[in-house]
Amino acid sequence: MPTSSKEMLFSQAQIRARVQQMAREISRDYAGRELLVVGVLKGAFIFMSDLIRALEVPCRADFIRAASYGAGDESSGCVEITKDIETDITGRDVLIVEDIVDTGLTVQYLTETLRARHPGSLKVCVFLDKKGRRKIPFEADYVGFSIDDGFVVGYGLDFAEQYRAFPDVYVIHAGVEKDPDGGKVDA
Ligand code: PRP
Repeated sequence: MPTSSKEMLFSQAQIRARVQQMAREISRDYAGRELLVVGVLKGAFIFMSDLIRALEVPCRADFIRAASYGAGDESSGCVEITKDIETDITGRDVLIVEDIVDTGLTVQYLTETLRARHPGSLKVCVFLDKKGRRKIPFEADYVGFSIDDGFVVGYGLDFAEQYRAFPDVYVIHAGVEKDPDGGKVDA
């Protein structure tokens, strides 16, 4: 008997359509400018790769990685950059790309850190926004989908490093084991 189930939240087709819309909006907003897109590893790499290929403005890509320390799945409030960008962002138009904003602590720390380096502008683009889970107020500039609380996987989002490559996004329902063995959540 399976110990858990998963439910599709957004299909590959829905995701593709929404990402194309977002790219059009961003392209309009940055018309005539060059964008530095900063992906937040690891979760954002798939969203970012689709987004930048749909942009109609020139862009450069860089990556940053943050770790938050605390028990369980939730940020503790203590965030640290474990891999920094390699680009001098002074005067550049910077767009941070995140897979998900939950408590808001990670993105808040990243925006404060990058803002202190004097970019020309700094905005945040997030694929999934769990607004109801904020520990601090944070509004992203571009939001793919707003979602309720629940454990989501796929399209870059993982569960214990699994399921990132799923092309659709799923919610895992209660009962899933912390160490999925590949058979607990049916593909
Ligand atoms: C996730 C996500 C964000 C952060 C959001 O990263 O990519 O960076 O958590 O949570 P918050 O709003 O509560 O701070 P995660 O630590 O799961 O790493 P990953 O992207 O490498 O999977």
